[in-house]
Amino acid sequence: MKQLKVKIIENKRIARDFYRMRLASAYLAKNSKPGQFVEIRCSEGNEVLLRRPLGVHRISDGGIEVLYEVVGKGTELLSRKNTGEMLDVIGPLGNGFDTRAQEHKSTSHKILVAGGVGVAPLAALAEELKKKKTRVTVIIGAKTGSHILCEKELKKSGCEVRITTEDGSKGRKGLVTDCLTSLLQAPNSQPPALYACGPTAMLKAIAKIAAEKRIPCQVSMEERMACGVGVCLGCPVKMKSGGYKMACKDGPVFDAKEISW
Ligand SMILES: Cc1cc2nc3c(=O)[nH]c(=O)nc-3n(C[C@H](O)[C@H](O)[C@H](O)COP(=O)(O)OP(=O)(O)OC[C@H]3O[C@@H](n4cnc5c(N)ncnc54)[C@H](O)[C@@H]3O)c2cc1C
Ligand code: FES
Repeated sequence: MKQLKVKIIENKRIARDFYRMRLASAYLAKNSKPGQFVEIRCSEGNEVLLRRPLGVHRISDGGIEVLYEVVGKGTELLSRKNTGEMLDVIGPLGNGFDTRAQEHKSTSHKILVAGGVGVAPLAALAEELKKKKTRVTVIIGAKTGSHILCEKELKKSGCEVRITTEDGSKGRKGLVTDCLTSLLQAPNSQPPALYACGPTAMLKAIAKIAAEKRIPCQVSMEERMACGVGVCLGCPVKMKSGGYKMACKDGPVFDAKEISW
């Protein structure tokens, strides 16, 4: 992990409040893995003091991409940055997904479940898995069709993609968990492993399904963060074994069955 000044190659609005930013950094490209994140300084002055964490969305030879939703001051400032500007970034941070973890190694079908902008870090994971010719299904859920991101890109990289929306405006009407349950009931299904990112309530519901069906499952916990490096104790995740782990340093990816939901 390093503090870097990186050049913005592109900062493009891709949907209503969603932007994709490409950052030039050979260091981040070489050292980042899916599920890790960067802490970005959104303003030069004192407008927003704390850095904002964003997941590594794509990794290429010359740098990384982040995909973000404008929800407040920090992301709003970020959306106004122009190509060619320099950005102060710390990263890569956190542990990332571990598809080689003991229970995950023997699974031949990886199911990635994304809630809203939670698809951002999962896209990097999907790309990595597809390079290894793994079967990947991505379930993307959102409130409405205009909040569904990355569908085209994921299909292009060879993933099977299922869409769910709460209002039924795109794909199947309902929640990602409905879609996941049907997928797991399909006859002749290969042994699956689950990887999920999205709102905590969604992750909790997925963890329950995984526990009932005894499927290995990793979740990326997007707790609010401050320091991003385990110092301020501001991002605790309660563990079943007792005590807390810090999402920024010990996570953000955890084995779902270790979390006290
Ligand atoms: C490890 C990690 C990875 C993340 N990756 C992404 C990503 O790839 N793309 C993306 O769009 N967002 C991501 N987030 C969330 C992102 O960091 C926040 O949306 C951002 O910090 C908000 O900053 P802001 O100044 O715009 O809004 P603020 O003014 O700080 O907050 C605006 C609103 O958003 C809520 N909010 C802020 N942070 C979070 C959070 N972490 N979880 C839930 N609600 C929050 C606040 O409660 C408030 O209601 C990630 C968070 C973490 C911890
Ligand atoms: S954000 Fe400071 S300990 Fe995690």
